[in-house]
Order: sequence, then C-alpha cells, then structure tokens
Amino acid sequence: MKYLVTSALPYANGPIHLGHLAGAYLPADIYVRYLRNMKRDVIYICGTDEHGVPITINAESKGVTPETVVKENHDLIEKGFKMAGMSFDIFSGTHNDTHAALSQEFFINLDKNGYISVKDVEQLYCEHDKMFLPDRYVEGTCPICKDTGARGDQCDKCGNALNTLDLIEPRCKLCGKTPVIKTSKHWFLDLDKFEKCLDSWLESKTNWKSNVKAFCKQWFERGLEPRGITRDISWGIPVPVEGAEGKVLYVWFDAPIGYASFTKELFEKRNAGPLEWEKWWKGGNDVKLVHFIGKDNIVFHSIIWPAMLMGQNETQEWKLPDEIPANEFLNLEGQKISTSRNWAIWVHEFLEIFNPDSVRFYLASNAPESKDADFSFKGFQDANNGMLASIYGNFVNRNLAFINKFFNGKIDGEVKYTEEDDKLWNDVRKELREVLDCYETFRVRDAVFHLMEIGRIANKYFDSMAPWALRKNDPARCNGVFINCLNLIDTLATVMEPVTPGSSRKVKKMLNQPEEFDFSKLFTPQIQSGITLGPVEILFTMIDDESIEKERAKLG
Ligand code: 2FM
Ligand code: ZN
Repeated sequence: MKYLVTSALPYANGPIHLGHLAGAYLPADIYVRYLRNMKRDVIYICGTDEHGVPITINAESKGVTPETVVKENHDLIEKGFKMAGMSFDIFSGTHNDTHAALSQEFFINLDKNGYISVKDVEQLYCEHDKMFLPDRYVEGTCPICKDTGARGDQCDKCGNALNTLDLIEPRCKLCGKTPVIKTSKHWFLDLDKFEKCLDSWLESKTNWKSNVKAFCKQWFERGLEPRGITRDISWGIPVPVEGAEGKVLYVWFDAPIGYASFTKELFEKRNAGPLEWEKWWKGGNDVKLVHFIGKDNIVFHSIIWPAMLMGQNETQEWKLPDEIPANEFLNLEGQKISTSRNWAIWVHEFLEIFNPDSVRFYLASNAPESKDADFSFKGFQDANNGMLASIYGNFVNRNLAFINKFFNGKIDGEVKYTEEDDKLWNDVRKELREVLDCYETFRVRDAVFHLMEIGRIANKYFDSMAPWALRKNDPARCNGVFINCLNLIDTLATVMEPVTPGSSRKVKKMLNQPEEFDFSKLFTPQIQSGITLGPVEILFTMIDDESIEKERAKLG
C-alpha cells in the first residue's frame, strides 16, 4: 500500500497562523511521520494556492504585481512551515506551467465527456476600467442592513452573504464609478450529473468523520447544481476553449489539481520516469489518498473535487480520496481568530520565541478534532511546563544527570532484572499499542494522552525502584533499573517523534543512539549494558508568566 497525503494548499495571500497549523498541517505531519516510521511508502504533498481575486486585490492595493504578492507569501509560509518542522516531500505553488497544463487538461476532459455547460450570466461591468468586476471588486450599500461599506460578496457589518447584483448604488472598487450590468459567458461544471455516483461513493465511506458526512448530506438534500468554474479576471489559468479569451479558471477549480501537479513535479525532481507520478494518482486500490483539510474546505474535497476526478473518464481511472480528515477550527483566547482584527498568532513569529516542539505538542494535545478548540496562553504554558517539561523532560533529565554524576556517563557490568520489569514493559507496551492506533486513525489528541501515560509510568517506575538507594546495596539491580530507564527514554523519543521531532533527535544524541525512529523496533528495547551517554542538554525549559504576557499583549 502506498500513502499519498496532502494538506490543503494555503492561499499565498498572507502568512499562516496557529489555527491553520492546528487544523490541516500538524495533524497531517504527525500522520506522515508515523507512516514513515512504520516504513510505509508515503509522499506528502503541499504548496501554496496562488490564484484568486483576493491576491489581485492585495497586489493592487500595494501597487505590485500578483507575482510579487505570491512570491513573498509563499516564502513566508514556507519559512513558517520549516520552523514548525513540517516534513513535506514537496512544497510547490500553483502558478507554474506544469500546474496550468494539468488544470487545462482536467477542464478539457470534463468538457469532452459532457460535464461542462455554458451559460450567459449577468454581471457588473466597469466601463472605465473595461472589465467585468468580480464580487470583491464591487462596493455599495447593503440591501439588508443599509450599511454603505458592503462588498459584492458579503456585508461585514451584518455578516450576510450577498449577491453582487443586489447591492444598492454599487461602485467599482478600482475607480469608484458606477458599473453597468452586462452579460458574460461562463462555463459550469454540471455537478448534478454526478449526483448518483457521488452519493453511492460517499455512502461507502462509513468510517468518515461525522462532520464530513453531515456536511455532504446537507448538500445532497439541497440537490447538486452546476457550479461556475470560470472568472472574468486575468490572474489565473486561461480557460482552454474557444470563446473564453480573457477568462481564467476559478481558483477552486485549479487548486485541488495542485495535489496532482505537485506530485508530478516531485517525481520530475527525483528524476523518476515520466509516468512514475501517475502510479500514485491512477494506481487504483494500491494507493490510499488522504486529504487533510479544515472544515471550511469540506465541500470542495468531498463533492466537487471527486466529481472532477470522476469526470476525467480516462482509460486509467483517477483515484478518489480515501480519507478526508477535516478538522474544526481553533479559537484564540476564547475568540474567533481574525487576521483583520489582529487576533491571530503568526507561525513564523511565534516559533522565533518558543520551542517548536512545545507548540506542536500543545496543538496536538488540544487538536480541534471533533469540535472547535481554544488556544490559550495559559494552556500552552501548562502543556509545556506541566507535561512536556515535568513528565518527559524530567524523566530524561533525572536519569541522565544521575548516570553522569555517579557512573561517569556509563552503565556497564552485571545487570539484574526482576518481575517488576516485566510488569513495567507490559504496561508500556499496552500504551504503545494505543499510541500507534491513534496515529493510524488521525487521533492526535488521544495519542498525546497515551504518550504522557508512558511518561507517567516511567517516572513512577523510577521513584518506586529508588535507584539512588540501590547504587550501594545492589549495584547489579541498580544497573538493571537504569538500563530499563534508558530504554524507556529511547522508546519515548522514538514514539514521540511524530509529535516532537526536534526533541526526539536531541534525545537520540544524548543516548548515543542512531538517529532513527523505526517503529518496528519499538517493542524491543535496544539499549544494553555497556552504554556510554553522549553530551547531555536540557530538553524543555519552563515557560514563565512574563514571556506569555508579552505575547498576549500583542493581540488585538
Ligand atoms: O482555504 C484555503 O486556504 C484554500 N486555499 C485551500 C485550497 S485546498 C486545495 F484544494 F487546494
Ligand atoms: Zn472602475
């Protein structure tokens, strides 16, 4: 079995915040690291989503090209992801030739197979700027609350979604003049034609999360309708049919195709044969395709994208998503994250200050899996100080410090084991099996719980064995206890690698062990008498109130 894992492509229109990280990225990275440690064949695909109207608006407001906006944000996002330890096999972007060609191919196939229709649509047109105005290029008075600052797609004052043509006294956002109504030709994906196929396919996904199932059900109850997949702007991928000059594919049409075009790019970079990438996308049952997303992307991944894939009708069928672990949202200190109100924590900034593993650990322990979760500074501090540092870090420290102090960093000679050790490892193995099961089934919250159970078992063992007393009375037993403790540390470092990869690497160095995290060795302790420690360092430092206050003060 091969595993093709993706995370939603973030818009190259701003940096990413902790809410993004917690939803579609960190859980995916944990899953992928787990798969790699299980020695499964996996690729992890991501990159920025680089088209769409918000990017052109952003570029215009700054007086730069969309390319400049995209490049800047792509780099910033990539930097944040690197700091967070994200382990993509490729992090590309959708504004390139490979992607454009594949997107056009998708459109052409759908058209050829009779899944695309054309309609004239009434739209606002600015005679001064000589362009059709996408929703967000129109401002005016909200027909509902009469606020004068409404946008074509939505009124921020009353929060209602609007239809551009209903705006009172519409104005062109670019020149302020009054636009006229004109008809424009648009291409539609006939979703209704996929209704039966989609419905029975979705029915077969009995184990999917309830949020995804419920969302799809709602859509089917309302009935599937053709969806516009073209736009009258110049930034994007040209629509590859006659009569569509000056139009581009809607950003949501080309974005998911990025998962496939980036795969193609990845195998080109690896100098694999030209068709190697297709084995992943047209590989039938041999590949498991897993899309990690936030809940706002459910409909695109569970209905529209599968329809696009079904409609290709090539000799070799495209894979449909096997799993869509959609996460809920992360709030911040009890409020919805909002970039415009500066109620957000930027990944690339926060990780300059705090240990990325502490952030990963807290976000995982508090992942918005089945309901929205809240990021609180206090919670972050507690997770770091009360769990990572006091349970995991403390166990590592007290053992290594003791061995350095009294045994010169080396355990060797005779070793005595007792029944208590069997009990210890039985308990640990039980928790290990739980952790692996959680990783396999996208339950990172529970995984963290069981990881900390192992830490608690380890500390309890150390306390009740009291090796400090054995040192003089029963040196062989003392050795036995420390060999067990070192193996507990090694086991923790291995099994925690998906969540706290940087710390796991550090621990392996301190233990003088190879930097590998092979889960097939998890159940067989690797360390034996004769071990000499490497240089020891503190694993996690405490986070004090002051540094937390400083960060909190930056909000709002
Ligand atoms: O919501 C978003 O951030 C979109 N850019 C996600 C796209 S996911 C995929 F389809 F590319
Ligand atoms: Zn205008």
